[in-house]
Amino acid sequence: MKLFVYHTPELTPTDTVPDCAIAVDVLRATTTIVTALAAGAEAVQAFSDLEKLLQASEAWPAERRIRVGERGGQTVAGFDMGNSPFDCTPERVGGRRIFMSTTNGTRSLQRVEMAKTVLAAALINRQAVVQHLQAHQPNTVWIVGSGWEGSYSLEDTVCAGAIAHSLLSHPEDINQLAGNDETVAAIALYQQYQDNLLSLLHQASHGKRLLKLDRHEDLKYCAQTDLLDVLPVQRELGVLVSHRN
Ligand code: MLT
Repeated sequence: MKLFVYHTPELTPTDTVPDCAIAVDVLRATTTIVTALAAGAEAVQAFSDLEKLLQASEAWPAERRIRVGERGGQTVAGFDMGNSPFDCTPERVGGRRIFMSTTNGTRSLQRVEMAKTVLAAALINRQAVVQHLQAHQPNTVWIVGSGWEGSYSLEDTVCAGAIAHSLLSHPEDINQLAGNDETVAAIALYQQYQDNLLSLLHQASHGKRLLKLDRHEDLKYCAQTDLLDVLPVQRELGVLVSHRN
């Protein structure tokens, strides 16, 4: 298995697809997707375009759908929810399809949707992702950070490092596992912050943006590792469900 970390979707190769692509948006899209599926959502359907989301969701009865729209960390007017994982309670999302569009995370998912297997990862389901990779041993794995409008994000890279670090049986295995320099750097970042990931999220530019929006509890929640044993997998283009082994 070779791991390739890409800091943003724009940096992924355009001439090939991996066996397995893992979209990461710790603050907050993939954390919210994992939480929603754990709370019983029927599926999460990702859109990079708000208008296309509204059109597609019209086909669903209002009582069986939730429209999640976030831009700049805030709820888009006219949508049912923003992108806080705390909104995804069983009472609100249970049995419903979540139609989601966020600033960055849903663009990552769209960028990699042609891969054989597409997963969504965050710190809260790191172990579920690692177990899947260990069981299925895909030859090439892309871990794609969402970043912020094309820029690097600390939180997505540290999550990539958390996944890669868990796949190392021995430190010297890094030469076998890492397919690019970004993977080695991500592991080093995780090793530096693994005992205090919240401090890294507070340093992250998007973490600071969310703190200005009083989303302190969101950062605490998003910084937890291995909280939920839920693995979002793409069942059809853009539609993520909870993987059943
Ligand atoms: C994103 O898509 O970049 C994030 O999920 C934005 C957010 O909800 O804070």
